[in-house]
Amino acid sequence: MKVVVVGTGYVGLVTGACLADVGVDVCCIDIDEHKIEGLKQGILPIYEPGLEEIVVRNYKKKRLTFSTSLTENLKDVEAVFIAVGTPSTEDGSADMQYVIDVACEIGRHMQDYLVVVTKSTVPVGSSEIIRKTISTALQKRNVDIAFDMASNPEFLKEGAAIKDFMSPDRIVIGVDSDKAKEIMDTLYKPFLLNGYRIIYMDIPSAEMTKYAANAMLATRISFMNDIAVLCELTGANINHVRNGIGSDPRIGKKFLYAGTGYGGSCFPKDVKALIKMGMENNHRLRILEAVENINDEQKKILFAKINKYFDGNLAGKTIAVWGLAFKPNTDDVRFAPALVLSDALLKAGAHVRVFDPVAMEEAKKHLHDTVTWCNDVYETVENADAIALVTEWNEFRLPDWSRIKSLMKGNAIFDGRNIYDDVMLHKAGFDYFGIGI
Ligand code: UDX
Repeated sequence: MKVVVVGTGYVGLVTGACLADVGVDVCCIDIDEHKIEGLKQGILPIYEPGLEEIVVRNYKKKRLTFSTSLTENLKDVEAVFIAVGTPSTEDGSADMQYVIDVACEIGRHMQDYLVVVTKSTVPVGSSEIIRKTISTALQKRNVDIAFDMASNPEFLKEGAAIKDFMSPDRIVIGVDSDKAKEIMDTLYKPFLLNGYRIIYMDIPSAEMTKYAANAMLATRISFMNDIAVLCELTGANINHVRNGIGSDPRIGKKFLYAGTGYGGSCFPKDVKALIKMGMENNHRLRILEAVENINDEQKKILFAKINKYFDGNLAGKTIAVWGLAFKPNTDDVRFAPALVLSDALLKAGAHVRVFDPVAMEEAKKHLHDTVTWCNDVYETVENADAIALVTEWNEFRLPDWSRIKSLMKGNAIFDGRNIYDDVMLHKAGFDYFGIGI
């Protein structure tokens, strides 16, 4: 089987590499020549554990190729996966321009039947718009070539993308033709024994499923962050509450961790887009409006705690910020709480010393250059008045606290992810502050 994947971001590259790994001939397309040249040499545009090995292996075996031309690679393909970005526009809706551009090109150059699969997160109804765009381009050429649409939203998590693709919880596919279903079935069965857990549905439902899944997860996080604030005010501990409620199988244990708010490329963008979709359909999604507001507030919570500790006088204080990525195992800093915290600290006149095991280069594109870039946690704490843990990387979990104490000027730890043992740290002479405890 031969497929084309357009867009070599997280979703496109992981999809292309993993399909190639099970034996599909995959051509990955991107308009960014620099990216494509890099990929041919095994240089990946993103950090994702395990991805480089799969890309290099399949490129060597010629099952995975890279090109900047969609036009030249549409021959004999069974499916084209559209995995280009759908960034937020100013009003919060998803920008469909890149998706439409790809649809136009498919219509202008396709030669035989194929399935056009939307992998990008697109608003409900987008597949119809794509279908019409392709049909119009075909009419202009005066040709009558059949094609089908499919919606195949991606649920992979950054940092665990390969595992998520290779052994998924479920694969959601929206189709409205038997032929498209057959092709999607063939492509995905290698990942799920006998096709178990492939969930077929109509196309609009598949498009909605992606948004609803991310919105539900974001809701759980904002709910817990809201309850965490109340825990602090009432003397309860969010960690105990989480254990208590998560043991109910109807609630479940996952995505109940209070912290400094969700970030990344999906939750903030998708919650916004769903709220906008609601408004466009005269239905206000009030829960999601609250989810978004709570998250915006939550990103400021570490700053508020630190500011309060120093009685509103942060000028000249030195704060060590541990972790810049929006979560561990990625170099992605999009909408990362650490950036919000660092900016606020700088604005208040503090010296900010930062370290992240992987995301320093990415963060340099976003953070003011007055922060001090350090090589490890120990360097960050030299003469520091306080530590703010923002991203729960493994290497931050058990540092040498006595060494840290001896290097610091002050003794305050603000744990934005509740990963430390407060009793142990109090004993070691630190002032410890978590979230909701
Ligand atoms: C998410 C979805 O999980 C994935 O299915 C979808 O395809 C893309 O969006 P991702 O953005 O990679 O994936 O990260 P995820 O691991 O879901 O974390 C999102 C954010 O929520 C992070 O900022 C994380 O720190 C935060 N989070 C997560 C919490 O604050 N508490 C939790 O309990 C879980």
